[in-house]
Amino acid sequence: MYTQGLNAADKAPPAIEDAGRLGAFQARIDAEQKIEPNDWMPEAYRRTLIRQIAQHAHSEIVGMLPEGNWITRAPSLRRKAALLAKVQDEGGHGLYLYAAAETLGVARETLVEQLLSGGAKYSSIFNYPTLTWADIGAIGWLVDGAAIMNQIPLCRCSYGPYARAMIRVCKEESFHQRQGYEIMTVLARGTTAQRAMAQDALDRWWWPCLMMFGPPDGESQHSDASTRWKIKRFSNDELRQKFVDATVPQGHYLGLSFPDPALRFDEATSHWHYGAIDWDEFRAVLRGDGPCNRDRLAARNRAHENGAWVREAALAFAEKRRRKAAA
Ligand SMILES: [Fe+2]
Ligand SMILES: [Fe+2]
Repeated sequence: MYTQGLNAADKAPPAIEDAGRLGAFQARIDAEQKIEPNDWMPEAYRRTLIRQIAQHAHSEIVGMLPEGNWITRAPSLRRKAALLAKVQDEGGHGLYLYAAAETLGVARETLVEQLLSGGAKYSSIFNYPTLTWADIGAIGWLVDGAAIMNQIPLCRCSYGPYARAMIRVCKEESFHQRQGYEIMTVLARGTTAQRAMAQDALDRWWWPCLMMFGPPDGESQHSDASTRWKIKRFSNDELRQKFVDATVPQGHYLGLSFPDPALRFDEATSHWHYGAIDWDEFRAVLRGDGPCNRDRLAARNRAHENGAWVREAALAFAEKRRRKAAA
């Protein structure tokens, strides 16, 4: 539970949520005013944001693993530099987001502990393996592309620190998406083997990317309150459709095909119609039974243990400075 990490100010008994206060809070949201850390907020709003921001932060951190796997094997110095920069950006996104969650009264250590113990959720997409170099292209193009669709509306989220973090994050995600599409472009215009590699990566990543937007609207648990509070501006299905409409023409431009026999452009609605998503697979990966769930958690725990000396050194240095200042 996040409450164990609450700071002293939050241990005070919760303010009474009378109708007047709730009404004034909703009126501020309706007037598009940002809610800031010291403002009064309903407990459910705070909890919803902590859950969402923490999941988002964990996803950025775990998201470093499938791509970090290819840094030493990138095909050129230029590709290696770009991939290094991208993976480092994702780490930075995780840190901004943990900092945004901390403004809601939860300690970063608590969130990190939840991730390491396997008790926290993160985006299920990162539980799929990166088998070839083309996967790095597909991830940038599709996974970062889907992340942008989700995150652009969050730049207008009612909670100020989250909204402001998203502005910078989205600028960086846009670079990630372009570098991924550029990798796919080179492969799609390359040798027969390279084109086949690009097609295989698209075939494996397409459906998991559609699942990134979460369960269909009818089954989504958190949408109503999130929409009322202007944390969420579009439903899961609306965002998924926007992503499909933006991405299918990009794939066709590269001469690639999508692994969905039902995919067709619907003249009546001007949208790309797509086939049924395998939600059983989605739920299995969420439960921890995806191809890489155990590997990802083990790798994150190893990295945390290997970084212990850095945390200890930083604490010792801070203590040395504190003593010096006191003397
Ligand atoms: Fe990111
Ligand atoms: Fe990214």
